[in-house]
Order: sequence, then C-alpha cells, then structure tokens
Amino acid sequence: MMERPLTEHISSTRAPLNLQEYEAVGGYQALRKVMQQMTPQEVTALIKESNLRGRGGAGFSTGMKWSFVPMEVSGPKYLVANADEMEPGTFKDRWLLEGNPHQLIEGMIISAYAIQATLSFVFLRWAYKQAAQEIRKAIAEAYAAGYLGNNILGKDFHLEMQLHTGVGRYMCGEETALLNSLEGKRATPRAKPPFPQVSGLFGKPTIVNNVETLSFIPHIINKGASWFQSLSYTSDGGTKIYGVSGKVNKPGAWELPMGVTMRELLEDHAGGMKNGYRFRGALPGGASTDFLIEEHLDVKMDFTGVAAAGSRLGTGTMVVLDDKTCPVGFVHNLEHFFAQESCGFCTPCREGLPWTEKILYALEQGRGTAADLEQLLLHTRLLGPGNTFCALAPGAMEPLQSALKYFREDFEQHIQAKKCPYAHDSH
Ligand code: NAI
Repeated sequence: MMERPLTEHISSTRAPLNLQEYEAVGGYQALRKVMQQMTPQEVTALIKESNLRGRGGAGFSTGMKWSFVPMEVSGPKYLVANADEMEPGTFKDRWLLEGNPHQLIEGMIISAYAIQATLSFVFLRWAYKQAAQEIRKAIAEAYAAGYLGNNILGKDFHLEMQLHTGVGRYMCGEETALLNSLEGKRATPRAKPPFPQVSGLFGKPTIVNNVETLSFIPHIINKGASWFQSLSYTSDGGTKIYGVSGKVNKPGAWELPMGVTMRELLEDHAGGMKNGYRFRGALPGGASTDFLIEEHLDVKMDFTGVAAAGSRLGTGTMVVLDDKTCPVGFVHNLEHFFAQESCGFCTPCREGLPWTEKILYALEQGRGTAADLEQLLLHTRLLGPGNTFCALAPGAMEPLQSALKYFREDFEQHIQAKKCPYAHDSH
C-alpha cells in the first residue's frame, strides 16, 4: 500500500491529534531516539543521505543546508519554520499545520538539535487563523511534556519555541525578508551571500526550512534514509504534497510518491477537467512557475523532471488553465498580485511589475498594440534572474514569458479584435 507518512493521521472530520494521540501513533519516538542515540552531526548526515529536498519551492538539499551551519562557533543559533505560505494556488502547508501540528514541532526540535539552536520560531501566515490556534496549543502541550524548554528528555539540550504571525505579505516568505521581519524591521530581502546558515537572525547562524520539509524529519529518523528514498518514483526522495486547482472535477491536495506525472494528478486525483472544459496548460507549482502544456502531461512532477520540461516544481500545487479562461486575463491577475506584493526595494521590481500589469490590463481590454508584446518580452528579460535583488520579480516573469510562448495567438487576437475574445465565456 502507498505510504503517506505526512498525512496518514490527518482527517477532515476530526480535530488534529493532541499530544497523547500523537504519542499513541509513535509521536516523539524520533526525538527520543535522537536524544538517546545520535549526535547532531549524525542527524545532519542522515538527512543529507535521505536526499530530502526543500519543499518550499526551491528544492535545495536540506541536509546540505544544515551542514553549512558553523557548529564550532559558540553563541546563539536559530531555527525558523517558514509557514508563511502565500504562493498563489498553494495550500499544502496549511493542511499540515492544521492537521498535525505536533509532527511539525517534533521535526523542529530534532532539526534544532542538529544545528544546536536554542530558540526557534514558527513564522506563520497572518491569514492562517485556525493553524495559529492549533500550533499555539501544541507548543504549550510540548512544553508541558518536557519536549521543549530546559534539559529536553533529561539531556543537556534546551530549546524555546515561539509562534510569530506575519502581517500578510508575500515577501515575508523569502527567508531573509522573513528574518528582517522577525527582527522588527521592514521585510526587505538581504543580499546573499552571506546565507542565513552563517549570518541569519540578528546576524547569527539560522536555518529556515519549510513546514513540509520539517514535518518529514521525524519519519526519516524513525525509518531511515533508504526508506525515504523508496517512497519516491524518482531519485528526488520521499512523498510530496501535490495539489490541483482550476476547472477540474475534484480540486484538492494529496500526498503522493514524488515523481507522479501531471496526467496522473489531473486525471486520477483531480478527477479530470470539468465537463465542457479542455486543458490548455498549468503552472506546475504555484504562480511563480512557467506554464507547461498538453505535450508535458507525462512529465514527472519532481524537481528534475519539471526543470527539464522548462519550468520548476515550485510548491507542487498545480494551477490549471482551461480553454474558456482568457490567458491574458489569467496572467494579468497574477501580475497584479506580484505588483502589489513587491517590497519596493529594487527598481526593476518596484517599477517594472506595475508597468507589466498595466500593459497586460490594456491588452486584456482590447487597447493593446504589437509594440506592447515586444515591451512585455523586454520586461521578462529586465525583471529576470540576475537583474533584481531577490526571486520575486523573476518568479513573476515565469508565467508571463511562458504564456507569451505558448498562448501568443491569444495575445495577438486581443490586439487584432480590439477586445477580449473570451469576454462572454470566461468566469
Ligand atoms: P534559493 O534557491 O535562493 O534558496 C533556497 C534555499 O537554499 C535557501 O534556504 C537558501 O539559503 C539555500 N541556498 C541556496 N543556494 C545556497 C548556497 N549556495 N549556499 C547555501 N545555501 C543556499 O531560493 P529562494 O529565493 O529562497 O526561494 C525561491 C523559491 O521559493 C521559489 O522556488 C518559489 O517557488 C518559492 N516560493 C514559495 C512560496 C510559498 O508560499 N511556499 C512563496 C514564494 C516563493
């Protein structure tokens, strides 16, 4: 039977497992094992061996990230769970936060031990009110049971944990902007390097990991690196929480082996397209990824497979474009979001995104010209990788550049007809 380590104890019909219930299904056994049998270095080595890749979107090796923390440096070190899930179309971490908060907390304690952090934060998206309640309750239970605080499980290891709710800015999900925000500063990104592993919160070594990534840690400790590898269809180990939204019969999220194809996701899990709608393309992992189209349906949804097809796995939560929705309007909507969420720090992003949005709006309204398409193409370069301070604007250019490639005739039709050809159909 297919294993679903992250979500097997989550049910939509009941409250998340409390501490006793979590312990009854093996919860905090991994922490006990680590405290009794493993050095911090052994924990990091095991996570490296498992090939766990970060589930926030970038897919960086988690064990490698931890190994960059200078363990010989004395003084405080910090761990942050990035729960500021704001990628459009993405709701996977919410499932874990609301569904099994102790799994995340146990993962965080073990991760903090691996890097010898003494203070940890859950940086939570402002809108996730239910998650805030569950996390707060679970942290209190963990303190009461001696899993947090001084001398955890009788060992010389101390860890404090705090819940911090953000203010609802996409930018705060970028790890260095998040750290500025935690320090009480304006949430603008910092230059990298130095990476946070070396100089993070208050200039001290800090690890920032995504919620899904951290939730895997107890399972890898309990069952080992090869078990984790064996869950996946491909060399990118583990399971993955995938999602599908759009005009499909059963939009939702599912924990599946890493490397299922887009077609399996769409047809077997999302129940296929709704009656009367045809698949035109999809953003494989949230708004900041390139469109893939019908010819890519058999692409394996892992970091390597999606990259080879010209996009990124990102958060693994697909947003589907159908044949009755205007691609120009679709992309305009996304660029409106990105323009609003720019932190305003660097010029290409601050000025370029609203300009891009304005051009797309004019095109959608039938007021666009051929020169506008050239201008948009220029923007995809000027706001692209290497020209901005962080990944926000380059991410925003991904759906635009791929829409101009795959749906160019739609853009041209708007110019020729001087109106939106979808005006009566799209909703
Ligand atoms: P990145 O590739 O720069 O970094 C990813 C992680 O790896 C970071 O923790 C970074 O510190 C580490 N890292 C990368 N290169 C390193 C090096 N040479 N040495 C040491 N550490 C290194 O990506 P970034 O800008 O952090 O994140 C972009 C991703 O975030 C995109 O893939 C996007 O899909 C995703 N994203 C997810 C959102 C969500 O709600 N989950 C929201 C917005 C974006």
